[in-house]
Amino acid sequence: MYVHGYGERESERLLAQAASVVRLLHGDTRFPPGSRVLEVGCGTGAQTVSLGRNSPGAQIVAFDHAIAALARAIARVAAAGLSNVEFLHADLFALPFDAESFDHTFICFVLEHLSNPITALRLVKQLLKPGGSVTVFEGDHGSAYFHPDSEIAHRAIACQVELQQRAGGNACIGRQLYPLLAQAGYEAPCVTPRVVYVDATTPDLVDSFTRKTFTWMVEAVREEALAARIIDAATFDAGIRDLYRATESDGVFCYTFFKGVQQSQRIYLGRAPMAVTSKRERALQVVLVLWGVLTVVANVYPLVTAFLAGLRPTAGTTAPMFWTMYATLGVFLVLAARNPSAYRSLIAFAVWSSFAHAAVMALMAIQLPTRRGELLVGVAVTALPAVLLFVLAPRKETALATS
Ligand SMILES: C[S@@+](CC[C@H](N)C(=O)[O-])C[C@H]1O[C@@H](n2cnc3c(N)ncnc32)[C@H](O)[C@@H]1O
Repeated sequence: MYVHGYGERESERLLAQAASVVRLLHGDTRFPPGSRVLEVGCGTGAQTVSLGRNSPGAQIVAFDHAIAALARAIARVAAAGLSNVEFLHADLFALPFDAESFDHTFICFVLEHLSNPITALRLVKQLLKPGGSVTVFEGDHGSAYFHPDSEIAHRAIACQVELQQRAGGNACIGRQLYPLLAQAGYEAPCVTPRVVYVDATTPDLVDSFTRKTFTWMVEAVREEALAARIIDAATFDAGIRDLYRATESDGVFCYTFFKGVQQSQRIYLGRAPMAVTSKRERALQVVLVLWGVLTVVANVYPLVTAFLAGLRPTAGTTAPMFWTMYATLGVFLVLAARNPSAYRSLIAFAVWSSFAHAAVMALMAIQLPTRRGELLVGVAVTALPAVLLFVLAPRKETALATS
């Protein structure tokens, strides 16, 4: 059973939700031209329009098992003038697709309604071509806090959580995205929290998020909660009143969504069907692969040459050891290109050790005029990729507020 229902207000709520979190959700989600993307549980098409618009060269296949919702989605996508979306009336657990039919999948606010999210994720994984990706977006009602705080407002929210649980879902699933993806067999998924912070300086969000996305959702379970006797009418109504109180001029509301992305672990040096999350990330991947390969070659070559020539006791013994370490670093830089966000500390190490290395060579160039030329070339060759990586490196995304 779908706990939110399929009524007019729920449709408007999903739209408000999509509008309020559009940058948060779609700001770094792009799929390359020519790729086939499966949207699971598209509902009324609130996310489908953004998917189709943001990836005009991709072919989106959106499905849902609720025919009324699907009809709305079809009308919405037609009104948006999109021609790269096709719809399908289907159930996730009985899909008519062959294995490896899609380059990418997109799942938004669906797992929270399933009693078997791991099975769902496994099924979706089978549909992905090698090198494909999954993008999952879920909320977590346990992350809602607000000012003025109110114990009875939390009790009203708990009714929604309880009813969703009784229906087989999990309204606090966001915090479990990482273990769910890992248990479903996705390697090294990258999950980031996406915080929505709302106060009077963002009146659009007060209306679209605090009021229409969150409070309406909790308010909608009133009759069911009363029928199930998990709360009395007066307490529930007071809780809802306190949630609306957070929309007043001194009110504050905060909520955390979670976005999980997993890309194939294969390494592609050429054109690959990887999810292009942004041009900046693509550039970062190119720099990582180039720098990694050059580092490997530049260090393996002298290492092999030295051993082939036969090591002499008079020659230094430190250089071969350093070549080995740098060659290994090069391999890891190439591996980091698969999912740079998961390798932030390795990238930081490569950047700062290169800056230190370049600084030492610059000092040596000052003190050794006879070797100044080659040392300055070394400074440039070491510092340039480090600067590029420094500029492109993924920033830590612990809080990403919409505004
Ligand atoms: C909260 S809505 C989200 C809709 C849309 N993804 C969005 O973000 O606006 C969840 C949707 O998942 C759909 N759904 C749930 N279980 C499904 C299943 N087994 N097969 C297909 N669709 C399903 C529901 O019908 C509903 O439209």
